[in-house]
Amino acid sequence: GVPRIVLLPGDGIGPEVMAAATEVLAAVGTFDLAEHPIGADAIRAYGVPLADRTLAACAEADAVLLGAVGAGAVGAGAVGAGAGAAGSAGAGAPHDAPRPEQGVLDLRSGLGVYANLRPVRTMPGITHLSALRTDRAADVDLVVVRELTGGIYYGPRGDVRDMPGEGVPRPAGDGPARRAVFDTCVYSADEIERVARTAFELARERARPGRPPRVTSVDKANVLTTSRLWREVVQEVADRDFGDVVLDHLLVDTAAMLLVTDPGRFDVILTENMFGDILSDETAAIIGSLGCLASASLTGLGAGGGLFEPVHGSAPDIAGKGVANPVGMILSVALMLRFGLRMAEVANAVEAAVQNALAAGTRTPDLGGDATTTQMTNAIVKSL
Ligand code: NAI
Ligand code: MG
Repeated sequence: GVPRIVLLPGDGIGPEVMAAATEVLAAVGTFDLAEHPIGADAIRAYGVPLADRTLAACAEADAVLLGAVGAGAVGAGAVGAGAGAAGSAGAGAPHDAPRPEQGVLDLRSGLGVYANLRPVRTMPGITHLSALRTDRAADVDLVVVRELTGGIYYGPRGDVRDMPGEGVPRPAGDGPARRAVFDTCVYSADEIERVARTAFELARERARPGRPPRVTSVDKANVLTTSRLWREVVQEVADRDFGDVVLDHLLVDTAAMLLVTDPGRFDVILTENMFGDILSDETAAIIGSLGCLASASLTGLGAGGGLFEPVHGSAPDIAGKGVANPVGMILSVALMLRFGLRMAEVANAVEAAVQNALAAGTRTPDLGGDATTTQMTNAIVKSL
């Protein structure tokens, strides 16, 4: 039948890049598209950043395509009064107001998409940071596999006065100087094992003659208990079932440095939720712009379905100007075609069209050009 796709345009530039995605979909096939609000858009419509009916529609669809959420800058000073309330929905918003970003967190956990794949490849003609070290500016072709539904983004958080456990130092009084809050990073061996399997299987798929499958696992095992379990479980899975995969372990600070100085050394990078969030934004600098990065969030490599979204946020600084780079969104469509809908040939065609349009010199302002979102999209669609 016709693949059913839920579209969640969201906030800021989300709807602008989603329009580009639907142009590309219209050019490559027939799809049953159903649009729903998420984020600040959903708070306006339903009072919550992710309505139950929206999550249900996503769970029933063959794949979900998301733009971006976020009402704007995170307000300073509004640090939380309880679980889920740390931070603020925007300048002036009360700190217990529903946060647009919670919609994406709830969607990821609601769909159970524990493995987030973020491919990073050098783009034709685009200067990347590693060109600073011309000897190391070799072609970058890596994938960050980020654990997406566990760790510190999902653990208990709040005021230390409400923190469970004995022996926690609790500040007395109520003045600002007495404020103390906590976040918690929790990982089970099962959560680590399943995402490690995804990374190892992906490494096998990416192996070429002369290039054996290779995974670099990133943690902070010299300090964190969760990281020590992470390293232990990843190594066990490798020893037991993936003897052909070359595995090494790096501390996250070292990995951050090597990504800038020697990005060509990486193939598949496996890491936990927060480290993956930060390192994948760093890798954006390697290829020139956050606007070019795509992601797939899956329940395993061959599972089908899933959630597909660009890595960037709602970019309030450029929203409404028509200049957002649609490449990250369009490459997310390609990932959806490949992993979500098993249409690999069409996915290849979309990726080639992006490469061709960039190589021909069409670039949005974030890449040093002056093309609008529409012009960039048209160039890609024309090249299809
Ligand atoms: P951001 O990714 O929205 O923007 C960072 C910088 O990159 C800005 O200068 C922006 O103009 C630029 N940029 C981002 N995407 C671009 C594109 N497609 N084309 C051209 N330039 C682009 O991150 P920021 O500013 O930290 O966060 C803004 C809002 O987005 C916040 O509310 C944040 O919570 C939310 N956010 C949402 C995400 C999601 O929906 N998955 C992910 C990251 C942030
Ligand atoms: Mg991020």
